[in-house]
Amino acid sequence: MRARKLKNLDERFEMYASALEEDPYAWRASWQSWQPSPQNALRGSVSPAKRWNEVRLDLGSGKGESTVRNALKWPDILFIGIDNIESCVALSAQKAVEAGAVNVVFVCADAFDILDIFAPGELSCIYLSFPSPFPKKKHAEKRLTHFEHLSRYRSLLADGGCIRFTTDSVPLFEFSLIQFEIAGYEVRWLTRDLAEEHPERILTGYEKRLIDKGAKIHALEAAPAEEPTEMVQRAPLSLVEYLPEDLSTLDYVPYGMEDTVYNMSNRRANAKRREERGRGVQ
Ligand SMILES: C[S@@+](CC[C@H](N)C(=O)[O-])C[C@H]1O[C@@H](n2cnc3c(N)ncnc32)[C@H](O)[C@@H]1O
Repeated sequence: MRARKLKNLDERFEMYASALEEDPYAWRASWQSWQPSPQNALRGSVSPAKRWNEVRLDLGSGKGESTVRNALKWPDILFIGIDNIESCVALSAQKAVEAGAVNVVFVCADAFDILDIFAPGELSCIYLSFPSPFPKKKHAEKRLTHFEHLSRYRSLLADGGCIRFTTDSVPLFEFSLIQFEIAGYEVRWLTRDLAEEHPERILTGYEKRLIDKGAKIHALEAAPAEEPTEMVQRAPLSLVEYLPEDLSTLDYVPYGMEDTVYNMSNRRANAKRREERGRGVQ
């Protein structure tokens, strides 16, 4: 997802302040009683005694489309969207305010800091919806499904809580399956074509665009199982290593790997031509 810096960011933050939480650290251990700012009449009101039935986190919430959609679907659950790009957070807050959803709030923060934002057992679900793939080996630890992130989430999940992960990227999905195993999660449910398995599910604009390009949405739900005594990385770290040897068999190039696949295809085609010339093949 390309995030352009928005114009008038400060104004937008002010205008949609009621769907933004500037001091998320202050709410650690009390998100279940989180209240939207009372001064914004657009959003309706929430009783000061309100306690949300559950608190769910959408980590890497982007422009907030699925966060707001889920909030509208489950009005007694508090949805918190976290993203580390200010423009995304501002656009998400605007969506929440315009939709009149009072049970959703957006925070500009980094996934690496979530232990300071939530207390143990505070979350019933963490959504990792189309997390940035960070295909390069040197960026593997930034992937929100890297086992070090997964082990951080474990302590924040309430009993019976789970992680829901969706992606268009087969390489990221394969890498992540190994990470869930290393971090001691049990995969309770998995699909390699979510749209086909759940045709009734309403797609976000982002999902629709990916599917139109030929993507199959891969998804899983995982829950913490026995905590491992030690965690050792054993997955190949570059996502290139999960691509098929013959790139022409790829029906769909995952988001974020377009340039890599294009360059690899060219390199391989050139190497083949050189080899054929060397063998005197016309
Ligand atoms: C491809 S977008 C997906 C957005 C959204 N979940 C959706 O389904 O449309 C991934 C988002 O994750 C955010 N992100 C990546 N790394 C992050 C991190 N360490 N902390 C917070 N957000 C992060 C990016 O800024 C981006 O907005």
